[in-house]
Amino acid sequence: KTTYYSETYRPQFHFTPEANWMNDPNGMVYYAGEYHLFYQYHPHGDTWGPMHWGHAVSKDMVHWEHLPIAFEPDELGMIFSGSAVVDWNDTTGFFNGKDGLVAMFTHANDGLQRQSIAYSKDKGRTWEKYEWNPVIENPGIKDFRDPKVLWHEETNKWVMVLAAGQKVMFYSSPNLKEWDFLSEFGLEDGAHGGVWECPDLFQLPVDGNHDNKRWVLQVDLGDGAIAGGSGGQYFIGEFDGITFTNENAPSEVLWVDYGKDFYAAQSFSDVSEEDGRRVWLAWMSNWKYANEVPTNPWRSAMSIPRQVELIENKKGQIKLIQKPVVELEGLRQKVKEIKNEVACAERNLLSDVQADVFELVAELEDVTATEFGLKVRKSTEGQETTIGYEVKSETLFVDRTHSGESDFSEEFSGRHSVQIAKKDGKLQLRMFVDRSSVEVFANEGEAVFTNLIFPDEESKGLELYVVGGEIRVHSLVIYPLTTTWR
Ligand code: FRU
Repeated sequence: KTTYYSETYRPQFHFTPEANWMNDPNGMVYYAGEYHLFYQYHPHGDTWGPMHWGHAVSKDMVHWEHLPIAFEPDELGMIFSGSAVVDWNDTTGFFNGKDGLVAMFTHANDGLQRQSIAYSKDKGRTWEKYEWNPVIENPGIKDFRDPKVLWHEETNKWVMVLAAGQKVMFYSSPNLKEWDFLSEFGLEDGAHGGVWECPDLFQLPVDGNHDNKRWVLQVDLGDGAIAGGSGGQYFIGEFDGITFTNENAPSEVLWVDYGKDFYAAQSFSDVSEEDGRRVWLAWMSNWKYANEVPTNPWRSAMSIPRQVELIENKKGQIKLIQKPVVELEGLRQKVKEIKNEVACAERNLLSDVQADVFELVAELEDVTATEFGLKVRKSTEGQETTIGYEVKSETLFVDRTHSGESDFSEEFSGRHSVQIAKKDGKLQLRMFVDRSSVEVFANEGEAVFTNLIFPDEESKGLELYVVGGEIRVHSLVIYPLTTTWR
């Protein structure tokens, strides 16, 4: 693998297919000590084409082993996005009273989208498509896809949410084969700049309090997201096994990510109770330019896996936060550390550091500065990606206008921002930089930016930049990350 993964722009700690086109993560499930990641895959080309499900497994969500393709197009059509669950009690009857994996996906044929299932008795190594597919016929809706299944404890049934045009629809089933329509949500709620796709639904405690839980409904939209093009939004509310009720104003839009490259997030099903985490990852691209990004022979990567949690903020609103999974800390190498130092415009405290694949964690406080931040993947000729904070307007931004190759699409270059207040006078930043991406987590994951970048290989400079005065660097640590593939 050593030479294979040394191509320009090849992600080192993000999942990529060895070759060819990938989009959404699919079928994410934890079973028998393995995390399964399936993905929308076109094995015969490096642009979107007839969809298969690629497959990989991991014990830690960081190091992945490629497995053979799980599903190929058949007489019912292409295999579009979907999910997988463990059928612990053999509700399907597929497993002779034991447990096994069941996947549910969209069969897409000449614009006709229907839902089907398949099962595996050998930990996902081989799959059998159900002989009576599809299990949900198309009710006359053009966009009718991306089923996400979960076991709903309170009603003792399987529940499935899928995207249908500009809304989601909920179904339930006792056995994953026969499905009843329950309700729909969304025509009046949230953002509608594009078709709704790839929903996810799960319950989480607020601030870790299991007596105070909420349901999170994640829905992607094909266009019109906060940074332009495709992106994700989420709703907070109640789900009683039949209906989802949004607890915020219908017009309120909660964005999952403020960057341009975090789409179709899906969370792992069946993570053990003692683990208790809800972890998701997403396709790190945007339909505006996904088919044009300058990588070869593969196209597209997944984001790092992130634990999602709910917090109640000072205004009493419940918000989703995202934290890189702790397993990523296993990639950390030696350390460059700064503690309690003052930085100003004339002095780049990181001028001695070269880093292209790394994690950086910092707590910074503006003293008299008007703007400060990090410039990563810098060259001496002005190539750089800036993660900056404008003090007065409390604006955190990621600017990739000078990040490297960008002429493959007019939609690519740009600067994305969000308003975020400091915490106890400090801005906390954590970023993961790979050969062709930057993921920024601010204030313990209150705001996240996920962005692709295509810098030159030699652009490894780092700068702690300050405008208009001084900042205090309470702490700053750089961890070069050992790569996944060597
Ligand atoms: C989202 C999506 C899904 C669909 C799949 C097809 O990116 O458009 O709605 O199932 O991709 O590859």
